[in-house]
Amino acid sequence: MAVSKLHVASLVLVAISALSSDSATAQKDDLAARPPMGWNSWNHFRDKVDDASVRAQAEAMVSSGMRDAGYTYINIDDTWEGERDANGNIQTNSKFPDMKALADFVHSKGLKLGIYSSPGAKTCAKFEGSLGHELQDARTYAAWGVDYLKYDLCGLRTEMRAAPTPEAAHKIMVDAYVKMRDALRSTGRPIVYSLCQYGDDAVWEWAPSVGGNLWRTTGDITDKYAKMAEIGFSQAGLARFAGPGHWNDPDMLEVGNGGMSLDEYRTHMSLWAVLAAPLLAGNDLSTMAPETIALLTNRDVIAVDQDSAGKQGDRVSAEGPIEIWTRPLADGSKAVGIFNRHPKPLTARVDFSALGFTGAVKAKDLWQAQDLGSVSKPYTVTVPGHGVLLLRVSQ
Ligand code: GLA
Repeated sequence: MAVSKLHVASLVLVAISALSSDSATAQKDDLAARPPMGWNSWNHFRDKVDDASVRAQAEAMVSSGMRDAGYTYINIDDTWEGERDANGNIQTNSKFPDMKALADFVHSKGLKLGIYSSPGAKTCAKFEGSLGHELQDARTYAAWGVDYLKYDLCGLRTEMRAAPTPEAAHKIMVDAYVKMRDALRSTGRPIVYSLCQYGDDAVWEWAPSVGGNLWRTTGDITDKYAKMAEIGFSQAGLARFAGPGHWNDPDMLEVGNGGMSLDEYRTHMSLWAVLAAPLLAGNDLSTMAPETIALLTNRDVIAVDQDSAGKQGDRVSAEGPIEIWTRPLADGSKAVGIFNRHPKPLTARVDFSALGFTGAVKAKDLWQAQDLGSVSKPYTVTVPGHGVLLLRVSQ
């Protein structure tokens, strides 16, 4: 009798722990079932971001149609932080008089609020970090109504440099990310967890196990074709590490910031969509030109990025400056990006049989919104300098 009671009790325990780990996984995956879409303050505003500019972004995200196209997060990057009070609670600085009120405002627009911190004593911009205050900070974020945290290694590198071995330094970093993951989870509030450590230490191999919903795979992007292309095209081979709930993050968008041509920004959006990358606009949404809105809200391109299968694309071929990347999509079709990395137009020859198709294919040009009908190989096309032809191809 005693034995069978014990047996029942242990079965129940096993069932409960299976349930809770299942629901923890489910919650984590639901949180970023698709690559997060939104806006982040850093690329355009840097340390000038404040309450008024964030409110203006939220309003513009709605009025521009970006919210309806899928953009959700309004993310405040570094430089919002103030001092800690006598109890160690983090305060905002004078640029952000009331973070809870700001979160309420963002939520009232049907959007979500993101914030930024570092596991070190200081952030990259030398503001207050979370070291030694992880649980307290997570609780503060939850109380404010924060929905997303970018946790940027920066300041912790001081501790890591003092470690006796690379393994010990790695452990300091991993432990710090685990600590904040547990702190966020303990609040009970679903908060997307974005790791930022610039792609060191093969982060894609361990980021999901420390709770990362997304992790930066590279150093910082700039609003220049050379840097954007270096970052974007370096993502070959990382596809198997991404999936619903956990994404490679080649950094935020520069679309609309003025440093690239329209063809170059089209390449930026297309490559990020093929990569299943988070789409975090990094421009001033309140002053966007119509062509910037068109770039950011192209439904067909967003549908590639947000495809429900959650499979990241990869490079299929590189012939000099012509690169072909494909991404398998949930309906059996494929996104096919034909990229020209040369500054002048070049003619590319696309052999669909080398991309897993047989015979004639049906193709749509996603930027021209043009059905190409039935295409038989070989398909020859001129791609603008630094530009792209982005197709959705089915059998
Ligand atoms: C690092 C990050 C950037 C940004 C800044 C803020 O450089 O990689 O994305 O968050 O810090 O200081």
